[in-house]
Amino acid sequence: MTFQVDPISPVELDVNWLIVTIAEEDNFHPQLQKIDDALNGQLTRLKENGDLTGKSGSVVKILDAEGIAASRLLVIGLGDPAKLERTAFDKAAMTAIRSITEKEYRSAGVVLNSSATHDVNLLTQSEIWAKSIVVGGFGQGLHKAEKDRFSLKDVTFVIESASVEPEVKESVARGRMLGDAINLTRELVNRTPDEMYPESFAARARQVADEYENLKCEIWDQKRLEDEKMGSMLAVARGSDREPRLVIMEYLNGGPDAPTIALVGKGVTFDSGGYSIKPSQGMITMKCDMAGAATVLGALSAIAEMGLKVNVIGMMGMVENLVSGKAYKLGDVLTARNGKTIEVHNTDAEGRLVLADVLSYAADREVDYIIDLATLTGACVVALGMDVVGLFSNNDDWSNKVLAAAKSCGESIWPMPMFDEYNELLKSDLADVKNIGGRWGGAITAAKFLENFVNETAWVHLDIAGPAYAESSKPHQEGGASGVMVKTLVETVLQLK
Ligand code: BES
Ligand code: ZN
Ligand code: ZN
Repeated sequence: MTFQVDPISPVELDVNWLIVTIAEEDNFHPQLQKIDDALNGQLTRLKENGDLTGKSGSVVKILDAEGIAASRLLVIGLGDPAKLERTAFDKAAMTAIRSITEKEYRSAGVVLNSSATHDVNLLTQSEIWAKSIVVGGFGQGLHKAEKDRFSLKDVTFVIESASVEPEVKESVARGRMLGDAINLTRELVNRTPDEMYPESFAARARQVADEYENLKCEIWDQKRLEDEKMGSMLAVARGSDREPRLVIMEYLNGGPDAPTIALVGKGVTFDSGGYSIKPSQGMITMKCDMAGAATVLGALSAIAEMGLKVNVIGMMGMVENLVSGKAYKLGDVLTARNGKTIEVHNTDAEGRLVLADVLSYAADREVDYIIDLATLTGACVVALGMDVVGLFSNNDDWSNKVLAAAKSCGESIWPMPMFDEYNELLKSDLADVKNIGGRWGGAITAAKFLENFVNETAWVHLDIAGPAYAESSKPHQEGGASGVMVKTLVETVLQLK
């Protein structure tokens, strides 16, 4: 895919598709006006007839555009310009790109809009478009005989003035790197459980690390995990014929004075529920249960590609949760790495058992900050729906930093309470804690369980069970893995610098 930034007139750009935005307002922005003039007022007439409204996400296509050099024109609506935010712009850009990538087209031009009425500035627009072109052209049909999603080959970003070219180029490059990272995460999650299991995930992680000189990868096998006393994670892995792995990736490019942040991911490559087995309907999508780990790997690849001057350690706990004669049982008592004992009341609450050991390893490494990401609880989806990530933390400053980063890149996170009272629900008669807290507040008791393993380290837990995976496609989003939180992780790390 080639990306160019060009101060050419939009009517002169010879491409398969020319894409331009329109807001719900009286006047066309200057670039749109040029196109309308070249089309002899066709857009004005469409607007007068009520067919070109500018409503958010509305798509108008002119397939035989006469008067402009492009063969086809797509006008994408942005809604009320006074209320335009990054998220809405992103949805509009994704909708536009997804609507022209179902067939194979070679080239497209995106007309950037420097009209001052819009809050989403030129550079943000450039980044979002570049990211959306990369993500929107990549589908989940990995195993289809006939492709149903095609990526564009040559894309030109049309700017009004050559003076902004260097900054726009930078934003486009950044958007593209984010898009590639999001697609990596999406691909890993979309792979079948037979393709993506602890060992194969670890091999992919190593491949990614091999691309960058300062990204190191260490992989712990079963024996090493035993030596390291990771009894909680190992118990979950026991029911599977596939061995567990802990993938540790170090990117220490910030120097000794910069803080170090650990990114910890739940990597359950398939969650059957174990003996607390899931019904078929709930099990079908459980290849997505390694999305936390895939998000960490995606974010690290972007951080390394951008060459950020930061210290980040990724830790991905990879297991498969199955049933067999060797599987862990309800009533078992496990000893985690930090010595705490856990009574198992539900083998489907396995993610927290994996994270317990990985988090205590992160705490042992004395990092300054931890973020863990996990498709941890259905309860979080009940609380916040499919599109919002739940945030749980032991440290307000750290939590505010992550929330601010998410806001600035247009991803939706909502903070949840962590009152000590919830600990009562996790008390066990014969061990230090149990692995479930009962019916109510399930996302919170899961987080309170995790808190037992981070010591005093500033820690944020992100429950991505809802947003990590979409069961069906929408105009702005392909079904399957979403790559949610890759941008937020990169932005959080960037803002720590
Ligand atoms: N992997 C699931 C959570 C999940 C649910 C992820 C839906 C994505 C979509 C997790 O391991 C799980 O099964 N959690 C249980 C916890 C319960 C047994 C306390 C749940 O949410 O039902
Ligand atoms: Zn489970
Ligand atoms: Zn799970």
